[in-house]
Amino acid sequence: MTGSKRKNPFDAEKFRLAGAESGTDKVLHHGYHRFYPQFLAPLRQRKREFGIVEIGYGQGNSIIFWKSLFPSAHVYCLDRDVSLEGEGYTVLKVDQSDLGAMEKSMQSILHSVPLIIDDGSHFPPHQLTSFSILFEELLEQGGVYIIEDIETSYWNSGDIYGYPTRFGLYSPWSAVEILKHAVDYLNRNLLSQSDRNLVEYSMLIAGLSPQAVEAVSTLTFAQNCVIATKIIPEDKAYIERPYHFSEMTAR
Ligand SMILES: C[S@@+](CC[C@H](N)C(=O)[O-])C[C@H]1O[C@@H](n2cnc3c(N)ncnc32)[C@H](O)[C@@H]1O
Repeated sequence: MTGSKRKNPFDAEKFRLAGAESGTDKVLHHGYHRFYPQFLAPLRQRKREFGIVEIGYGQGNSIIFWKSLFPSAHVYCLDRDVSLEGEGYTVLKVDQSDLGAMEKSMQSILHSVPLIIDDGSHFPPHQLTSFSILFEELLEQGGVYIIEDIETSYWNSGDIYGYPTRFGLYSPWSAVEILKHAVDYLNRNLLSQSDRNLVEYSMLIAGLSPQAVEAVSTLTFAQNCVIATKIIPEDKAYIERPYHFSEMTAR
């Protein structure tokens, strides 16, 4: 239907305007306001202060953006080049390629975190290792994790923030390809044990932690971003229950 708009519980236009005012590119050429509102609407109901963690400071525009949408949130930004403190936000100088530093940075995050955004280096291996750490250890149950700018997985040449981008369609090191394994792992109770082992191994060698993926409830691939939500207790019974057609998938 030409000209029709997606219905979002949390007004996408309000989201787009807040982004445009802040100057973040999230709502400009990326158009992420088309996807995020449906995932972030429940955060609007939260009364108590919560934390938003974003990798990548840039010029600080997205801090303004998140604060304007969620005034009671404390925004924690992780960036390899910046350390800063302000009203309702903290920028921690952390390189996302340094797994020890990433682990340590979590000690400075004093709020419960229902939203994490990776808008840092956009280097696919970093996107996977950061997800492995933060999704599992920092994100609260039912929370939302967004990996932005997965375009670099399709790059065959060049570099980003000094990291060489030799990936390309179907590259075994493409974050998109490796996150497709996470889709199979979401369905692990439908797989034979040998297939399950194969998926686990494929994720492990690519730097995506199976433990983190075990905590995924939903995984959405959208244009230039991936959005994962974290399980709630109710999910567990469904994910781990024996499959009643297991003979069909046995090898
Ligand atoms: C695209 S900008 C962030 C833009 C910001 N989130 C916004 O929407 O306004 C990416 C940032 O990631 C930072 N960055 C690049 N490589 C990084 C790394 N290895 N670890 C942490 N931050 C990194 C850069 O310094 C830059 O500030």
